[in-house]
Amino acid sequence: MASQNIYILGIESSCDDTAASVMLNGKILSNVVAGQNIHAEYGGVVPELASRAHQQNIVPVVHQALKKANVDKKQLNAIAFTRGPGLMGSLLVGTSFAKSLAYGLNIPLIDVNHMQAHILAHFIDETGFEKPPFPFLAMTISGGHTQIVKVNNYFDMEVIGETIDDAVGEAYDKSGKVLGLGYPAGPEIDKRAQLGNPKVFKFTKPKVDGLNFSFSGLKTAILYFIQNEVKSNSNFIEEHINDICASIQYTIIGILIDKLKKASKETGIKHIAIGGGVSANSGIRKTLKDGESKFGWTTYIPKFEYTTDNAAMIAIVGYLKYLEGNYADQSISASARLKL
Ligand code: KG4
Ligand code: ZN
Repeated sequence: MASQNIYILGIESSCDDTAASVMLNGKILSNVVAGQNIHAEYGGVVPELASRAHQQNIVPVVHQALKKANVDKKQLNAIAFTRGPGLMGSLLVGTSFAKSLAYGLNIPLIDVNHMQAHILAHFIDETGFEKPPFPFLAMTISGGHTQIVKVNNYFDMEVIGETIDDAVGEAYDKSGKVLGLGYPAGPEIDKRAQLGNPKVFKFTKPKVDGLNFSFSGLKTAILYFIQNEVKSNSNFIEEHINDICASIQYTIIGILIDKLKKASKETGIKHIAIGGGVSANSGIRKTLKDGESKFGWTTYIPKFEYTTDNAAMIAIVGYLKYLEGNYADQSISASARLKL
């Protein structure tokens, strides 16, 4: 078994990124992502445009992934694809493509849960990155997700907290829209936040039971606050942009870290792994690092290209399921609301 080479092709198309990746025995050989700029002018992902772009991108993206990996499709041992959760039209493109390719090559087809993949991205073999030991807590934070999961084993996971409305990335992106920043606004707010004073403006943190999150109230509070201030000073945003960004960021990080602390205390687990696009945030990273000395945490953040939506994370789940012989059959269909 140790001498056998297992090549997996991973395919991801759940939202607005078309991605393909080739993996050899747990190591990434190529990781190709085609983003979709088309959504920027709408300030959010437009599902119909996303699925059309996936249709245009999927063949060249898969070709490129194979080419970069220097692997012929005949060498592949299995095709792994994102079954859900995500946008139905987007998922259908990747699912249909994966099914027909596996059928044509006569190799196993492996279905992957996108949320599980964000977490198992920590198990990609990568120099300089440690794999978390079981059990650990995984917080997935992005434009589409906000979730805390207790991970007992590769395929034994329990969602212990999640958002009851918007995802944290949406709070960033929608606040950015009100402030006239581009889309997605997370990186820009983060950059400006580092130049501002986080204590200047106060936003109330939502009161949500247990380990769940809510971001829609905060988003509305920020909108009203800005509209109100602009009424009395039309230059309010320009004059205070860095402090506004710093205050928003401070509030959001506070919400995330409070729940993480609570989760760690309730479960007694001190190994904390984060993933998703928002894990790029400088404030989150710093606060997590501080948690190492403050609360005795060990924290894990994957390489950036494996934390935003990508197919390397789909390939690692494919690899782990391949080793177990856990395959899908050709009757499988995409599932927009797939649960962990
Ligand atoms: O994982 P991702 O690329 O796509 C999904 O949403 O699944 O995450 C994108 C989200 C966007 O909401 C973006 O604003 C946010 O991640 N983001 C950030 C930062 N970089 C990306 N949010 C805060 N700070 C950042 N540095
Ligand atoms: Zn995602």
